[in-house]
Amino acid sequence: MPSLNPEDYVGKKDFAEPLNFKGRQLFFEDASIQKLAETLGTRVYILSLSQVEKNAKRLTAAFKNYPRFKPCYALAANSLPQVAQTLVDLNFGIEVVNIYELKYALSELKKIPYIICNGASKHAIQNKQENLIQTVINLQKETDVTINFNSTDEIEYTKKLCEKENTELKAGLSLNLASHFQDSELSPGSARFGIPTEQLPAAIKLLKNSKLKLAALQSHIGTQITELNKLIKNANLLSTYAIRIGKELGTPIENINLGGGIAVKYYKTPQNQKKLNPDYTIEEYAQKIIQEIAQVYQENGAEPPTITTETGRWLTANTMILILKVTETRKTPQNKLEWIITDGSALTDTNDAVWIGQYFEIINATKANQKPTEWYNIAGITCDTNDAFAWPKNNTGPRKLPKTEPEDILTILDVGAYQLALRNSFNLLPKAPIYTAEGEPVKEPSQPNN
Ligand SMILES: Cc1ncc(COP(=O)(O)O)c(C=O)c1O
Repeated sequence: MPSLNPEDYVGKKDFAEPLNFKGRQLFFEDASIQKLAETLGTRVYILSLSQVEKNAKRLTAAFKNYPRFKPCYALAANSLPQVAQTLVDLNFGIEVVNIYELKYALSELKKIPYIICNGASKHAIQNKQENLIQTVINLQKETDVTINFNSTDEIEYTKKLCEKENTELKAGLSLNLASHFQDSELSPGSARFGIPTEQLPAAIKLLKNSKLKLAALQSHIGTQITELNKLIKNANLLSTYAIRIGKELGTPIENINLGGGIAVKYYKTPQNQKKLNPDYTIEEYAQKIIQEIAQVYQENGAEPPTITTETGRWLTANTMILILKVTETRKTPQNKLEWIITDGSALTDTNDAVWIGQYFEIINATKANQKPTEWYNIAGITCDTNDAFAWPKNNTGPRKLPKTEPEDILTILDVGAYQLALRNSFNLLPKAPIYTAEGEPVKEPSQPNN
């Protein structure tokens, strides 16, 4: 698994946009990574809010020819208040998956244009006295909020509650489109999310003559979907079902919600890694999705819908790096490869590297301008043998770097999506702190009460 010379991808859109070289030094935005390590210490995350803004504007621009585009941010990807507020200020709605995220968004963020509530078992009491559905019924008087039902149980529960409280509710259906895909195309775990299309007749029967107003059809087919044709198929199926259900209910469904899934180019090497990176850019995604939905609506003589995306990963992944220090290198007799040990932990700082074998690009920032010559496995400092950022066991390594020595500074790219929330206190390691590229500490989300 060769790593390229960083000079070949640093600064390139879709690859390592917030990084750049000034002279021989590697910078993240306007800050030298070596300097950041010296002033802030190591095992620190660095956040670029300007990259969050750039990503958001690029996504919106990709849909600029479609006047009815309502983008949403999936809060689960990175719930730092500054990240979410930056997106809200650019007119992104917020997507939440439970009552904790909902309450967090309401207390930490200002002027959210609209909220979408997804997630399993929203009718179950999760917060001692109330569940998400009750909360939204009260909230809808002051906020534009949609609940996407995940099951017929949720619909039944909500229908009764709305009757009891004599109130209407704007609702959507989360569809499970698994039966339209091959088994191998989607993650097997996704089967428990959304209403299977076979259960749609029962769902529609419940919605008829109820106080629930069906406004949206949503389907999230998974995250990091690297093949555009799957996302297009999702859009096609959603549009087709929306038209069919709209006709049956006698009121058109105004919103098509495509979920998340837009993938990130984690692999910086060309050719041999082509199949692991997304086969599309955000602009191609938008163009094809708009085309597909417009075509289905045109063929049916229907008014085009609003389009919503619930993007998390693509908006945030490249906005953060992790800076670590090499503590030692070790060559063992069994392993021909040398191990680099760092002062971080893959288990807690980039948990997906261990959990799902996620590849994160790694650069020796101290020697960023030197040619990669040696092969290494790269490990964390904890006592677990699986604490590795890059090694052959799960295809995350080995990596080719310049000759690396203790005290060298390593930077791990694209850690802005999902990694902060997956931190833990294994070996009692403290959570690595977060700073902006200007060296300011970043406020962490407050822990919700139960
Ligand atoms: C329902 C739903 N919508 C949106 C997202 C965000 O997906 P992504 O980070 O791939 O954009 C997720 C996360 O997996 C999700 O579960």
